[in-house]
Formats: sequence, C-alpha cells, structure tokens
Amino acid sequence: MPKIVVLLECVGDPLPRFEAALDAAGIDGASVEVVADAGVRSPEDLHAAVAGASALLAPLTIAVDAALLDAAGPGLRVVANYAVGFDNIDRTACAAREVVVCNGPPPMTEPTADVAWGLLLATIRRFQEGIDLVRTGTWGGYDARLLLGHRLHRGTLLVVGAGRIGAAVARRSIGWEMEVLYTARSPKPGLEAAPISARRCELEDGLRVADAVVLTTALNEETRHLMDRRRLALMKPGSVLVNVSRGPVVDEQALAEALDAGRPMAAGLDVHEHEPRVHPALLDHPRAVLLPHIGSATHEDREDLTDICVTNIVETLAGRVAPFVVPAP
Ligand code: GLV
Repeated sequence: MPKIVVLLECVGDPLPRFEAALDAAGIDGASVEVVADAGVRSPEDLHAAVAGASALLAPLTIAVDAALLDAAGPGLRVVANYAVGFDNIDRTACAAREVVVCNGPPPMTEPTADVAWGLLLATIRRFQEGIDLVRTGTWGGYDARLLLGHRLHRGTLLVVGAGRIGAAVARRSIGWEMEVLYTARSPKPGLEAAPISARRCELEDGLRVADAVVLTTALNEETRHLMDRRRLALMKPGSVLVNVSRGPVVDEQALAEALDAGRPMAAGLDVHEHEPRVHPALLDHPRAVLLPHIGSATHEDREDLTDICVTNIVETLAGRVAPFVVPAP
C-alpha cells in the first residue's frame, strides 16, 4: 500500500487533493501522513517518520540526502519538492536508488519576478532609508536633495542565470525601456527576440555595465559564491544587486564590505546564505533591503504548488511520467 509522507504544512489542504488524485488514478489503499513539524525534528525522528514511504513531499529546508532516502527504504519512488529549486535534494543519491525527483516551476515564476522587481525599485530608490526616516520620526520635511537614488529608466539590467524566473524579470523591464543583458548556459532565443531584445554576455562584462543585477540562477557547485569579492568589485558605483535565487550564490561577508565601499550602492536580498540567520553586517545596513525568502509567497501560487506536488506524486505512483521531473545529474 503506498504511503505518502508530507513533510510540511502546505498552503491548501493536501489531503482532499491526494484523495481525488489517487481515486482518479485508480490507486487504492494509499495513506497520506502530514508531518507538520518535520522541519524541527531531530534526524532520528525525521527518519522514523519517513520509514516505509513510497513518496515524500518535502520543503526546500529539509535535506533529502542519502540518509533520509535510506530511512525511507527501498519502496521510495518519488520525492516532490515544494519549490522550484532543488539544491536541498541529493539527486545523485536519488538516481542511485531510482527515486524520481520532481519540482514545481510554473507557479513560482511570476511572483518571484515580482519580488525581484520590488527589491530592484526599493534598492535603487532607497526605500529602506526612507522608511527608516519616517518610522523613526527623524524626517525633517521635503528636501530636494533627500535620498537621491539612481535612474532606472533606459538603464541596463543584467539577469544572471536566466531561466524561467529570469525571463519573467526581463519581461517586466519593458516598461522601463531597459537594455537587457543575460547570462545562461545556452542562448535564450525567446529573450533575444523583440520586445525584450536581450543580449547574452559573460558575467564579468555584464557586471561592469549593469545598473541593476538580478540573480536568478540555480544553486550548485558552479554558482556557490558566484558573487564573490572580485565580481562584486566589478559592479558600477550606483548599481544595485538583487538576489531571489539562493543565498549562497552571494558571499555575504564580501557583499557587506562591497556595500560599505559603494559598489554596489545597495542590495536587495530575498534569500540569505545561512537562513534563517541574516549576516549581522547586513542586518542593519542602511542600504540592504532584506526579505525572509518570500519570493513565491502568494495564496494563489502556493495553492497551485500544492496541486502540482500532488500531481507529481500520484502520476509517478501510477507509473506515469510526472509533469515536472527534475533530470538526474
Ligand atoms: C523557492 O525558493 C523555490 O525554490 O521555490
């Protein structure tokens, strides 16, 4: 009998969704167990909870490693990540055990691009310092020289690691008539076509000319600390850096020092190197706008993600190819 273990509290009750999907797939006798406190359990307790599972629905905060897979046992067929990113999953260990890995890209794309733009505008126009002035009652009234930011209109946007989210970030720049540059492993004809008319470039070249740099790349061994001290120093004075990908893509210690040096002028981070800990030098930095990893946090998109994860699991258990399978490394 298939045992499905859900390792988080999803947005939208997964139980009726599983019931309907299992029924439609003709799978009888499956059990679904929600372990809402999985994220704070000891490894032993977590391993006990997944024992005998055929499917896991996991949040991005739980490491799906060889130990967890072995604790689930040989009946495990699928891990559905409640995220688009999958750096928490040891895909090699999954492949070795013939465990299918799934994610849920579609609902994550647009809300994450919205947050990237929110951070971009907040940083280049110095919202955080303005909010602090107002909130602390230290605003002395209109001043023509107060909190001057930089012009975004007709500036240059660099999207680093352009995939779905990066393309959505680039699409939003049309209203600002920006020149768009991007880095990616392969050319993106959709981005290069009008009206975005983006140009692919080398990272270093883009960093030298961009007014706004948005990181949307996946985290892997090549992108860990991609934005290190040397690359941060290439950024233009007055430019801003936004990270909506994964925290470790940025060397936060180097970023704190780079902000002090004014290159970049400001940084907007939705993700952090050691979540939920925020680098102490960034925590109260006036030119850091910090969010608690809420890129895709809308009611609608997270409900859609729950639907996708349920479908990914049930389709795999039914012996079919799930809609969003992450390729083995
Ligand atoms: C969020 O960070 C995601 O990967 O979905």
